Amino acid sequence: MAKVGGMRKPSGKVEHAKDKKKTLLRLFKYLGKYKGLIIFAILITIIYNVLNLLTPIMQGYLLDYIKEQLDTDSSINYDIVLGYIINMIIIFTLSFVLTYIGNLIITRVSKKIVTTLRHDSFDSLSKMSVSYFDHNQIGDIISVMSYDIDTVSTSLSNDVVTLFSSFIQIVGSLILMISISWKLCLVFAFTLPITILFSRIMLKRLHPLFRKRSIKLGVMNGYSEEMITGIKTIKSYSKEKYTLEKYMVVNKEAADAMYEADYHGCVMGPSMNFINQFTLALICVVGALLCIYEGFSYGYISAFTQYSRKFAGPINEMANIATDIGSALAAAERVFYLIDENPEDINDNKDAKEIDTSSGEINFDHVKFGYTDNIVLKDFSLDVKSGKKVAIVGKTGAGKTTIINILMRFYDIKNGTISLDGINTKEITRSSLRHQFAMVLQDTWLFEGSVFENLSYGNPLVTQDDVIDACKKAHIHSFIMQLPNGYSTILKENGGNISKGQKQLLTIARAMLLKSSILILDEATSNVDTKTEMDIQDAMNKLMEGKTSFIIAHRLSTIKNADIILLLDNGDVIETGTHKELMDKKGRYYNLFISQYDR
Ligand SMILES: Nc1ncnc2c1ncn2[C@@H]1O[C@H](COP(=O)(O)OP(=O)(O)O)[C@@H](O)[C@H]1O
Ligand SMILES: [Mg+2]
Repeated sequence: MAKVGGMRKPSGKVEHAKDKKKTLLRLFKYLGKYKGLIIFAILITIIYNVLNLLTPIMQGYLLDYIKEQLDTDSSINYDIVLGYIINMIIIFTLSFVLTYIGNLIITRVSKKIVTTLRHDSFDSLSKMSVSYFDHNQIGDIISVMSYDIDTVSTSLSNDVVTLFSSFIQIVGSLILMISISWKLCLVFAFTLPITILFSRIMLKRLHPLFRKRSIKLGVMNGYSEEMITGIKTIKSYSKEKYTLEKYMVVNKEAADAMYEADYHGCVMGPSMNFINQFTLALICVVGALLCIYEGFSYGYISAFTQYSRKFAGPINEMANIATDIGSALAAAERVFYLIDENPEDINDNKDAKEIDTSSGEINFDHVKFGYTDNIVLKDFSLDVKSGKKVAIVGKTGAGKTTIINILMRFYDIKNGTISLDGINTKEITRSSLRHQFAMVLQDTWLFEGSVFENLSYGNPLVTQDDVIDACKKAHIHSFIMQLPNGYSTILKENGGNISKGQKQLLTIARAMLLKSSILILDEATSNVDTKTEMDIQDAMNKLMEGKTSFIIAHRLSTIKNADIILLLDNGDVIETGTHKELMDKKGRYYNLFISQYDR
């Protein structure tokens, strides 16, 4: 299984979507459900942008009216002036209200999309085969679920609106400017190419710098993660100072990369500003000439300057939006990749049976299995009658857990068959198959919630009495009663506030409440003190009563009463029999047992 700890390499995220069109279509599909709302929002966007385009020309008319009156020494009719002003106020107010409504709609839609994307990713993740987590870093999965989905949502709510607004502003302003004076528009023929060329060159230079920045940031985060998960080891080796020094190196590199990107980025804003001001100055000069020689009105020039800003603004922004949308598409692609990941492998056979209860009779028939091309179990056969206890022993890496992994179909075998009550487990739905098992592992797993919730996890129908009964059998009741709120005490994530042995006893009590016919104990007694080990041993014996049990144990003294013991080496069963038979044989098991007693 994937490890949480360990230095996480920067995953070298692709900044560009590989298939933009496909990703975009897929996003549209998600948007499809909210077609009505989105069309409404777009309509509103169009209306308020068109409204915004009206005001400069109205200001121009007003200006021209006042100038005309002054030129001809006529008195100014303030009703007319007031009329213009009121009209403009109405337009501003309307545009404010419409912008607000439009943003509100888009924000709501993007919230819904985020929820759906998270739902779909989580759903896909929970259905993923266990092997998926062998190949994928947990940190990367989390980053897709949180950061990438956020990026998609932000882009949906900001960029989509901006894109439409910009389009209308650019086209509208251009049409109005041409209708005011195509000659003045020629100024843009000169300045626009400069703007576009400049921003292209800048983006080309900045892109690798931003990429470097995100990689360095990834390295730094990976290092922090490694430090936090390994804090005990670091402290026990007194490596705090060394860790800090190493952190300072990655910290400095990340800061340098950030500075470098921002330093070069700093030129962008002022340069654009300069080009804009320069354009404006040119317009004024050319406009003045037109006024003098062609009798152009001041109002028109004033309106033109305002349109020129409405026109140039979005064009300058386009480059940014394009980059934003580019990274949003790349993020969306990663999200869809997660959603689409390997579902076929996990789907049950079409005619797989749903089984209710089983007697717990298990048969392995010439099973061959490897996680990769490396074969772990070469030819494994075993027949277990209902209610029998099977102990599996052997060195670390011998293949003990692997037997459990394929029995519970965490991984599927390619050759041979495994059957439960005579039915090939491939013909049983995974969920009903796994229902037959109760499992206690060395890696205990508890979640943040009350003791009671943790205990009733597998069987929500159990009563308080059932739980107390199981806890008494598991020697954990008196401990729970000492907790501040008894069975209602909230356990921290993965039981951070209780000891390892107590966690183990809790998981045994949880397994007892399952009422399953088969029990699996994988190194459940490792790493606890002798008293706790005796408690656990006793609890496990009670748990095993009447159930088919597979016990993987490191300490051989704990499995003496098993009905059959398998000694595994390198995936092969090298000795098998009862404890007494194997001791009499004086073979490998005997030697192992004696060596443990010597210690
Ligand atoms: N998820 C996995 N992917 C690839 N190889 C694995 C995986 N899990 C275990 N192995 C390999 O399979 C072999 C048997 O492992 P396992 O059954 O876990 O041993 P153990 O007897 O200690 O429980 C080992 O060589 C181990 O490296
Ligand atoms: Mg193991």
